[in-house]
Amino acid sequence: MRVLGIETSCDETGVAVYDSRAGLLAHAVHSQVSLHAAFGGVVPELASRDHVRKLLPLLKTVMSQARTEAADLDGVAYTAGPGLIGALLVGAATARSLAWAWDMPAVAVHHMEGHLLAPMLEPEPPEFPFVALLVSGGHTQLVSVAGLGNYQLLGESLDDAAGEAFDKTAKLLGLAYPGGPALAALARAGDPHRFRFPRPMTNRPGLDFSFSGLKTFAINTLRTAGDDDQTRADIAIAFELAVVDTLVLKCRRALQQTGLNRLIIAGGVGANARLRAELDALGARQAARVHYPRPELCTDNGAMIAFAGCQRLLAGEREPAVFRAAPRWSMEELAALG
Ligand code: KG4
Ligand code: ZN
Repeated sequence: MRVLGIETSCDETGVAVYDSRAGLLAHAVHSQVSLHAAFGGVVPELASRDHVRKLLPLLKTVMSQARTEAADLDGVAYTAGPGLIGALLVGAATARSLAWAWDMPAVAVHHMEGHLLAPMLEPEPPEFPFVALLVSGGHTQLVSVAGLGNYQLLGESLDDAAGEAFDKTAKLLGLAYPGGPALAALARAGDPHRFRFPRPMTNRPGLDFSFSGLKTFAINTLRTAGDDDQTRADIAIAFELAVVDTLVLKCRRALQQTGLNRLIIAGGVGANARLRAELDALGARQAARVHYPRPELCTDNGAMIAFAGCQRLLAGEREPAVFRAAPRWSMEELAALG
Protein backbone atom coordinates (compact mmCIF):
# COMPACT_ATOMS: atom_id res chain seq x y z
CA MET A 1 0.00 0.00 0.00
CA ARG A 2 1.26 3.49 -0.88
CA VAL A 3 0.09 6.56 1.02
CA LEU A 4 0.62 10.30 0.63
CA GLY A 5 1.02 12.07 4.00
CA ILE A 6 0.30 15.74 4.70
CA GLU A 7 1.26 17.59 7.90
CA THR A 8 0.14 21.20 8.50
CA SER A 9 -0.72 21.33 12.21
CA CYS A 10 1.63 24.17 13.17
CA ASP A 11 4.53 25.94 11.49
CA GLU A 12 5.90 23.20 9.24
CA THR A 13 4.43 22.07 5.95
CA GLY A 14 5.37 18.39 5.60
CA VAL A 15 4.67 16.01 2.73
CA ALA A 16 5.78 12.38 2.23
CA VAL A 17 5.09 9.23 0.30
CA TYR A 18 5.30 5.99 2.30
CA ASP A 19 5.06 2.52 0.81
CA SER A 20 4.33 -0.40 3.15
CA ARG A 21 6.75 -2.64 1.23
CA ALA A 22 9.46 -0.25 0.00
CA GLY A 23 9.42 2.11 3.02
CA LEU A 24 9.72 5.90 2.91
CA LEU A 25 10.01 6.90 -0.77
CA ALA A 26 10.40 10.66 -0.29
CA HIS A 27 9.68 13.36 2.23
CA ALA A 28 10.20 17.11 2.48
CA VAL A 29 9.47 19.80 5.04
CA HIS A 30 9.03 23.51 4.48
CA SER A 31 9.75 25.32 7.75
CA GLN A 32 8.05 28.64 8.51
CA VAL A 33 10.65 29.57 11.14
CA SER A 34 11.87 32.68 9.32
CA LEU A 35 8.28 33.83 8.77
CA HIS A 36 7.46 33.82 12.50
CA ALA A 37 10.90 34.73 13.88
CA ALA A 38 10.19 38.48 13.99
CA PHE A 39 7.13 37.83 16.20
CA GLY A 40 8.94 35.56 18.68
CA GLY A 41 6.43 32.76 18.14
CA VAL A 42 3.96 31.24 15.68
CA VAL A 43 1.31 33.66 14.31
CA PRO A 44 -1.62 31.34 13.47
CA GLU A 45 -3.06 33.36 10.56
CA LEU A 46 0.36 33.69 8.90
CA ALA A 47 0.89 29.96 9.39
CA SER A 48 -2.38 29.06 7.62
CA ARG A 49 -1.65 31.36 4.69
CA ASP A 50 1.85 29.98 4.25
CA HIS A 51 0.53 26.40 4.25
CA VAL A 52 -1.88 27.45 1.47
CA ARG A 53 1.06 28.85 -0.53
CA LYS A 54 3.53 26.03 0.02
CA LEU A 55 1.53 22.82 0.23
CA LEU A 56 0.74 22.13 -3.45
CA PRO A 57 4.24 22.95 -4.81
CA LEU A 58 5.77 20.76 -2.06
CA LEU A 59 3.33 17.98 -2.90
CA LYS A 60 4.35 18.04 -6.57
CA THR A 61 8.06 17.96 -5.67
CA VAL A 62 7.69 15.05 -3.25
CA MET A 63 5.48 13.02 -5.63
CA SER A 64 8.05 13.43 -8.38
CA GLN A 65 10.95 12.56 -6.03
CA ALA A 66 9.03 9.43 -5.02
CA ARG A 67 8.37 8.67 -8.72
CA THR A 68 4.73 8.39 -7.77
CA GLU A 69 1.65 9.31 -9.79
CA ALA A 70 -1.82 9.64 -8.32
CA ALA A 71 -2.66 6.21 -9.80
CA ASP A 72 0.12 4.61 -7.70
CA LEU A 73 -1.43 5.83 -4.44
CA ASP A 74 -3.91 3.95 -2.24
CA GLY A 75 -4.81 6.77 0.11
CA VAL A 76 -4.10 10.22 1.51
CA ALA A 77 -3.32 10.75 5.21
CA TYR A 78 -3.52 14.16 6.86
CA THR A 79 -2.99 15.58 10.34
CA ALA A 80 -6.44 16.28 11.77
CA GLY A 81 -5.27 17.51 15.20
CA PRO A 82 -4.25 18.58 17.70
CA GLY A 83 -2.92 21.87 16.34
CA LEU A 84 -3.88 25.31 15.04
CA ILE A 85 -7.37 25.14 13.53
CA GLY A 86 -6.64 27.25 10.43
CA ALA A 87 -3.41 25.38 9.71
CA LEU A 88 -5.11 21.99 10.20
CA LEU A 89 -7.92 22.98 7.83
CA VAL A 90 -5.46 23.61 4.99
CA GLY A 91 -4.14 20.04 5.22
CA ALA A 92 -7.57 18.52 5.81
CA ALA A 93 -9.19 20.33 2.86
CA THR A 94 -6.31 19.56 0.51
CA ALA A 95 -6.09 15.88 1.49
CA ARG A 96 -9.84 15.34 1.37
CA SER A 97 -10.15 17.08 -2.02
CA LEU A 98 -7.26 15.11 -3.55
CA ALA A 99 -8.71 11.85 -2.23
CA TRP A 100 -12.10 12.77 -3.68
CA ALA A 101 -10.63 13.66 -7.07
CA TRP A 102 -8.39 10.58 -7.13
CA ASP A 103 -11.18 8.32 -5.84
CA MET A 104 -9.35 6.90 -2.86
CA PRO A 105 -9.75 7.01 0.93
CA ALA A 106 -8.45 9.88 3.05
CA VAL A 107 -7.60 9.21 6.67
CA ALA A 108 -7.42 11.65 9.59
CA VAL A 109 -4.24 11.15 11.65
CA HIS A 110 -3.61 12.26 15.22
CA HIS A 111 -0.42 14.36 15.21
CA MET A 112 0.93 12.76 18.40
CA GLU A 113 0.23 9.25 17.10
CA GLY A 114 2.32 10.27 14.10
CA HIS A 115 5.20 11.30 16.39
CA LEU A 116 4.78 8.15 18.46
CA LEU A 117 5.03 5.83 15.45
CA ALA A 118 7.94 7.71 13.81
CA PRO A 119 10.61 5.36 15.31
CA MET A 120 9.00 2.61 13.20
CA LEU A 121 10.31 4.33 10.08
CA GLU A 122 13.84 3.36 11.18
CA PRO A 123 15.72 0.16 10.28
CA GLU A 124 15.16 -1.61 13.64
CA PRO A 125 11.58 -0.70 14.49
CA PRO A 126 10.45 -1.18 18.11
CA GLU A 127 8.01 -4.00 18.86
CA PHE A 128 4.89 -3.46 20.96
CA PRO A 129 4.40 -3.00 23.86
CA PHE A 130 6.54 -0.03 24.87
CA VAL A 131 6.64 3.19 26.85
CA ALA A 132 6.69 6.37 24.75
CA LEU A 133 8.06 9.72 25.84
CA LEU A 134 6.47 12.38 23.62
CA VAL A 135 8.26 15.69 23.94
CA SER A 136 7.29 18.47 21.54
CA GLY A 137 6.51 22.17 21.59
CA GLY A 138 2.92 21.51 22.62
CA HIS A 139 3.06 18.22 24.55
CA THR A 140 5.06 16.37 27.17
CA GLN A 141 3.52 12.97 27.73
CA LEU A 142 4.46 9.50 28.92
CA VAL A 143 2.27 6.93 27.21
CA SER A 144 1.94 3.18 27.63
CA VAL A 145 1.57 1.72 24.14
CA ALA A 146 0.03 -1.77 23.98
CA GLY A 147 -0.42 -1.76 20.20
CA LEU A 148 -1.42 0.44 17.28
CA GLY A 149 -4.04 2.90 18.53
CA ASN A 150 -3.96 1.42 22.02
CA TYR A 151 -2.61 4.25 24.15
CA GLN A 152 -2.82 4.87 27.88
CA LEU A 153 -1.63 8.20 29.22
CA LEU A 154 0.71 7.66 32.19
CA GLY A 155 1.57 11.29 32.85
CA GLU A 156 1.84 14.69 31.21
CA SER A 157 2.89 18.26 31.81
CA LEU A 158 0.55 20.23 34.04
CA ASP A 159 1.77 23.52 32.52
CA ASP A 160 4.40 24.22 29.84
CA ALA A 161 5.52 21.45 27.50
CA ALA A 162 9.25 20.65 27.51
CA GLY A 163 9.73 22.28 24.08
CA GLU A 164 7.78 25.34 25.18
CA ALA A 165 10.04 25.64 28.24
CA PHE A 166 13.09 25.42 25.97
CA ASP A 167 11.63 28.11 23.69
CA LYS A 168 10.66 30.49 26.51
CA THR A 169 14.00 30.16 28.31
CA ALA A 170 15.85 30.60 25.02
CA LYS A 171 13.91 33.81 24.41
CA LEU A 172 15.00 35.09 27.85
CA LEU A 173 18.58 34.35 26.85
CA GLY A 174 18.13 36.46 23.72
CA LEU A 175 17.96 33.53 21.28
CA ALA A 176 15.70 33.50 18.23
CA TYR A 177 12.51 31.41 17.97
CA PRO A 178 12.27 28.41 18.14
CA GLY A 179 14.97 28.46 20.74
CA GLY A 180 15.33 24.75 21.58
CA PRO A 181 18.21 23.91 19.24
CA ALA A 182 19.89 27.32 19.81
CA LEU A 183 19.73 26.89 23.59
CA ALA A 184 21.25 23.41 23.26
CA ALA A 185 24.07 24.89 21.15
CA LEU A 186 24.70 27.70 23.69
CA ALA A 187 24.75 25.13 26.53
CA ARG A 188 27.85 23.53 25.02
CA ALA A 189 29.89 26.56 26.13
CA GLY A 190 28.39 26.49 29.62
CA ASP A 191 29.85 25.44 32.96
CA PRO A 192 27.58 22.66 34.31
CA HIS A 193 28.63 23.31 37.93
CA ARG A 194 27.93 27.04 38.26
CA PHE A 195 24.12 26.93 38.69
CA ARG A 196 21.79 24.16 39.74
CA PHE A 197 18.16 24.41 38.58
CA PRO A 198 15.39 22.42 40.36
CA ARG A 199 14.12 19.08 39.00
CA PRO A 200 10.37 19.85 39.18
CA MET A 201 8.02 17.23 40.65
CA THR A 202 10.69 14.57 41.01
CA ASN A 203 10.57 14.36 44.81
CA ARG A 204 7.00 13.06 44.83
CA PRO A 205 5.53 9.97 43.20
CA GLY A 206 3.77 10.09 39.85
CA LEU A 207 4.59 10.68 36.21
CA ASP A 208 3.33 14.22 35.64
CA PHE A 209 5.64 17.10 34.77
CA SER A 210 5.79 20.84 35.42
CA PHE A 211 8.28 22.97 33.52
CA SER A 212 7.02 26.53 33.89
CA GLY A 213 8.97 27.10 37.15
CA LEU A 214 12.27 26.63 35.31
CA LYS A 215 11.64 29.75 33.27
CA THR A 216 11.08 31.75 36.47
CA PHE A 217 14.27 30.25 37.91
CA ALA A 218 16.13 31.39 34.78
CA ILE A 219 14.72 34.92 35.10
CA ASN A 220 15.83 35.15 38.74
CA THR A 221 19.27 33.72 37.96
CA LEU A 222 19.76 36.24 35.14
CA ARG A 223 18.73 39.04 37.49
CA THR A 224 21.17 38.10 40.26
CA ALA A 225 24.13 36.78 38.23
CA GLY A 226 24.16 39.29 35.36
CA ASP A 227 23.65 38.62 31.66
CA ASP A 228 27.14 38.40 30.19
CA ASP A 229 27.78 35.73 27.53
CA GLN A 230 29.33 33.22 29.94
CA THR A 231 26.46 33.55 32.41
CA ARG A 232 23.92 33.01 29.63
CA ALA A 233 25.75 29.83 28.54
CA ASP A 234 25.94 28.67 32.19
CA ILE A 235 22.18 29.21 32.56
CA ALA A 236 21.55 27.37 29.28
CA ILE A 237 23.39 24.27 30.44
CA ALA A 238 21.83 24.36 33.94
CA PHE A 239 18.39 24.57 32.33
CA GLU A 240 19.08 21.81 29.83
CA LEU A 241 20.45 19.51 32.55
CA ALA A 242 17.35 20.11 34.70
CA VAL A 243 14.94 19.25 31.87
CA VAL A 244 16.93 16.21 30.74
CA ASP A 245 17.39 14.84 34.30
CA THR A 246 13.66 15.27 34.98
CA LEU A 247 12.63 13.53 31.75
CA VAL A 248 15.09 10.67 32.32
CA LEU A 249 13.96 10.14 35.92
CA LYS A 250 10.28 9.95 34.86
CA CYS A 251 11.14 7.55 32.03
CA ARG A 252 12.86 5.27 34.55
CA ARG A 253 9.78 5.41 36.77
CA ALA A 254 7.48 4.68 33.82
CA LEU A 255 9.53 1.60 32.87
CA GLN A 256 9.47 0.39 36.47
CA GLN A 257 5.74 1.07 36.90
CA THR A 258 4.72 -0.71 33.68
CA GLY A 259 7.33 -3.49 33.87
CA LEU A 260 8.14 -2.80 30.20
CA ASN A 261 11.68 -2.88 28.83
CA ARG A 262 11.30 -0.80 25.67
CA LEU A 263 11.24 2.97 25.47
CA ILE A 264 10.69 5.18 22.45
CA ILE A 265 11.30 8.92 22.26
CA ALA A 266 9.56 11.19 19.78
CA GLY A 267 8.71 14.83 19.18
CA GLY A 268 10.93 17.84 18.53
CA VAL A 269 12.79 17.77 21.87
CA GLY A 270 13.73 14.18 21.04
CA ALA A 271 16.27 15.73 18.67
CA ASN A 272 18.19 17.01 21.72
CA ALA A 273 21.60 15.31 21.82
CA ARG A 274 21.99 15.42 25.62
CA LEU A 275 18.55 13.87 26.13
CA ARG A 276 19.37 11.09 23.67
CA ALA A 277 22.72 10.37 25.34
CA GLU A 278 21.19 10.28 28.85
CA LEU A 279 18.32 8.05 27.76
CA ASP A 280 20.80 5.68 26.11
CA ALA A 281 22.62 5.52 29.45
CA LEU A 282 19.32 4.85 31.24
CA GLY A 283 18.56 2.05 28.77
CA ALA A 284 21.95 0.46 29.48
CA ARG A 285 21.37 0.65 33.26
CA GLN A 286 17.82 -0.71 33.08
CA ALA A 287 18.48 -3.33 30.37
CA ALA A 288 15.88 -1.54 28.24
CA ARG A 289 15.98 -0.87 24.49
CA VAL A 290 15.68 2.78 23.56
CA HIS A 291 14.44 3.77 20.09
CA TYR A 292 14.41 7.19 18.44
CA PRO A 293 13.59 8.46 14.99
CA ARG A 294 16.50 10.21 13.24
CA PRO A 295 16.48 13.89 14.36
CA GLU A 296 14.73 15.15 11.18
CA LEU A 297 11.83 12.77 11.90
CA CYS A 298 11.63 13.93 15.54
CA THR A 299 10.40 17.36 14.53
CA ASP A 300 7.17 17.80 12.55
CA ASN A 301 7.16 16.01 9.20
CA GLY A 302 4.87 14.35 6.67
CA ALA A 303 6.59 10.95 6.85
CA MET A 304 5.16 10.11 10.28
CA ILE A 305 1.67 11.07 9.06
CA ALA A 306 1.97 8.96 5.88
CA PHE A 307 3.19 6.03 8.02
CA ALA A 308 0.44 6.30 10.66
CA GLY A 309 -2.23 6.76 7.97
CA CYS A 310 -0.92 3.74 6.09
CA GLN A 311 -1.19 1.55 9.23
CA ARG A 312 -4.78 2.71 9.77
CA LEU A 313 -5.76 2.09 6.14
CA LEU A 314 -4.06 -1.33 6.19
CA ALA A 315 -6.11 -2.17 9.30
CA GLY A 316 -9.24 -1.38 7.30
CA GLU A 317 -10.07 1.96 8.89
CA ARG A 318 -12.37 4.02 6.65
CA GLU A 319 -14.14 7.25 7.45
CA PRO A 320 -16.96 9.23 5.86
CA ALA A 321 -15.99 12.01 3.42
CA VAL A 322 -15.76 14.78 6.01
CA PHE A 323 -13.05 17.33 6.81
CA ARG A 324 -11.72 16.58 10.25
CA ALA A 325 -9.82 19.25 12.16
CA ALA A 326 -9.67 19.11 15.96
CA PRO A 327 -7.49 21.65 17.82
CA ARG A 328 -7.81 19.48 20.96
CA TRP A 329 -7.93 15.72 20.71
CA SER A 330 -6.87 13.08 23.26
CA MET A 331 -4.88 10.12 21.95
CA GLU A 332 -6.81 7.84 24.32
CA GLU A 333 -9.92 8.41 22.14
CA LEU A 334 -8.28 6.72 19.14
CA ALA A 335 -9.57 3.35 17.97
CA ALA A 336 -7.26 0.42 18.72
CA LEU A 337 -6.32 -1.50 15.58
CA GLY A 338 -6.04 -5.24 15.11
O1 KG4 B 1 7.42 18.20 17.46
P1 KG4 B 1 7.80 19.59 17.06
O2 KG4 B 1 8.59 19.78 15.79
O3 KG4 B 1 6.54 20.49 16.92
C1 KG4 B 1 5.44 20.37 17.77
O4 KG4 B 1 4.57 19.51 17.46
O5 KG4 B 1 5.44 21.10 18.77
O6 KG4 B 1 8.61 20.19 18.31
C2 KG4 B 1 9.12 21.50 18.29
C3 KG4 B 1 9.79 21.77 19.61
C4 KG4 B 1 10.21 23.23 19.77
O7 KG4 B 1 9.81 23.66 21.06
C5 KG4 B 1 11.73 23.19 19.65
O8 KG4 B 1 12.39 24.22 20.34
C6 KG4 B 1 12.04 21.83 20.22
O9 KG4 B 1 11.01 21.00 19.73
N1 KG4 B 1 13.36 21.33 19.79
C7 KG4 B 1 14.42 21.14 20.62
C8 KG4 B 1 15.50 20.69 19.82
N2 KG4 B 1 15.06 20.61 18.52
C9 KG4 B 1 13.75 21.01 18.53
N3 KG4 B 1 14.53 21.32 21.94
C10 KG4 B 1 15.73 21.03 22.50
N4 KG4 B 1 16.81 20.60 21.82
C11 KG4 B 1 16.74 20.42 20.47
N5 KG4 B 1 17.81 19.98 19.80
ZN1 ZN C 1 4.82 17.85 16.59
